[in-house]
Amino acid sequence: MNTVSIRLPVKITLFGEHAVVYNKPAIASTIPVFMNVTGRRLNDEKLVVKFHNANVLIKGIVLDRLSNSYTLVPDDVSVSRFTSYIVTGLEICEDELKVSRGGYEINIESTLPMGAGLGTSAAISVGTIAVCISLNYSHNFEDPYIKRMIALLAWKTERRVQGAASPMDTFTITYGGIRYIKPWIPEAEIIVPPRHFNIVIGYTPKRYTTADLVRSVKNLKSKEEYLLNMLLDITERVVEEAKNAIANNDIEKLGILMNINHGILESLGVVSLEHSNIVKTLIAAGALGAKTSGAGGGGAFIALARDREHAALLKNVAEALGAKVVALELYEMGFTINYNKME
Ligand code: PMV
Repeated sequence: MNTVSIRLPVKITLFGEHAVVYNKPAIASTIPVFMNVTGRRLNDEKLVVKFHNANVLIKGIVLDRLSNSYTLVPDDVSVSRFTSYIVTGLEICEDELKVSRGGYEINIESTLPMGAGLGTSAAISVGTIAVCISLNYSHNFEDPYIKRMIALLAWKTERRVQGAASPMDTFTITYGGIRYIKPWIPEAEIIVPPRHFNIVIGYTPKRYTTADLVRSVKNLKSKEEYLLNMLLDITERVVEEAKNAIANNDIEKLGILMNINHGILESLGVVSLEHSNIVKTLIAAGALGAKTSGAGGGGAFIALARDREHAALLKNVAEALGAKVVALELYEMGFTINYNKME
């Protein structure tokens, strides 16, 4: 049976989260932290999903003391968070390719908790779509038509599961590198920095789902339409300036823009107490700028360091405040495929 394995980098949002849901541009980048989605067809119509180190929790164990057999009680929330993207992604792919519902075994390998704010759900969506397209249609992922199809179907998967989602996460993970996202097309334009950044990327536990946080911004917008539109316009301006600052390696300016963007996220009400504290402390420790990255409510944050040594110091500061730091640099590529044809 043929098996296909997709290696997916996760991502951070550099600028423009939330505003991108309202059709504004944003900038995101892949980072060198990876998940694997591996799949193969099964002969019956079962979907078998296996998790490897993926932080899916069981809530408990029921032991029958007479027969000595036990039943696991799953943590429905974390199990359904993972499986909804897989089930929906397969359905969307099968409908698009006009193939009938089939049986699959899907393996998910991850060391990140689901919903860390690093695009884990987008990585599962892209991985599932890529597996399905590879097993049912073509594994020539260098073909721009196939690549775009994967990005679009993965985005559709996120929209269907979450209710609302921008193409930012799925397009960034598909194409990789620093990407200027134009949701109105949708398209992900590459931005190539002349030198690489020293950037601290970490996360704290995320208390709400992305869907909850997108909804809370929507509620605020319905109450304060005029002011929220102004904040979205300022975010757009920040993103445009950041695009130039990245291309010109103007890290002082990038730091200032990060702080302004963080202030807007504070105004939108999505920054957690821990993040306010971490961001302020990192700036006090000399970070050029720092911000919540992604939907908020905890989750991912980033801080711009002056150089490698400074990044190592900021990492220690963030970890002393209880955060987990996962990378000190960005990554240049999107997902890659490994196809094994078995006779
Ligand atoms: O925290 P994440 O990785 O789920 O990022 C969400 C980014 C939002 O702009 C808030 C939502 C979206 O769909 O773009």
